[in-house]
Amino acid sequence: MAPAKLDLKQHIRHVPDFPKPGILFYDISTLLAHAGAWHEALDRLAAALAPYQPDLLVGIESRGFLVAAPLADRLGTGFVMIRKRGKLPGEVIRHAYDLEYGEDVIEIQAEAVQPGQRVVVLDDLLATGGTMAAAVTLLEKVGAEVAAIGCLIELTFLKGRERLRVPVHALLAYDN
Ligand code: PRP
Ligand code: MG
Repeated sequence: MAPAKLDLKQHIRHVPDFPKPGILFYDISTLLAHAGAWHEALDRLAAALAPYQPDLLVGIESRGFLVAAPLADRLGTGFVMIRKRGKLPGEVIRHAYDLEYGEDVIEIQAEAVQPGQRVVVLDDLLATGGTMAAAVTLLEKVGAEVAAIGCLIELTFLKGRERLRVPVHALLAYDN
């Protein structure tokens, strides 16, 4: 008989009123800290994303790095960083996008992805989808073919997925 699957949601800590009152924070620290649960989370994401046969995995600073780097090793691909403004050396391509108040800028190294390469983009959490949509736009700017998106957690009630034109694989979905 196959072993029972772990309930990974039991390894996500819920922190009310963080970072501000009224916000329920889904904390992945407890998942990362549990060797068996983290291993299984990576196994499941790897199984969902391997069929896309990516050339590269891309992680979004900062928590996306935690997911993308070990998964790239599992899938036998390279790993590329999308970082916040001013963190990457050499020639970079940037994309500015609007936030509720002000704007944010993300960057990728100009040589990191060759035109036509297939990439899968990873982050820890999909909320409004603003961060992921900006990452996809930046990757398209450098000529990448964005095959899929992966994340540990999706807050489905924020409908971030509707902003994305790429298949999204979320390990754990929360509807409130
Ligand atoms: C959080 C989270 C995602 C993003 C999701 O990152 O890690 O990257 O927000 O939100 P969205 O779907 O509404 O754009 P944060 O900016 O807090 O930074 P961090 O990863 O560096 O902690
Ligand atoms: Mg983040």
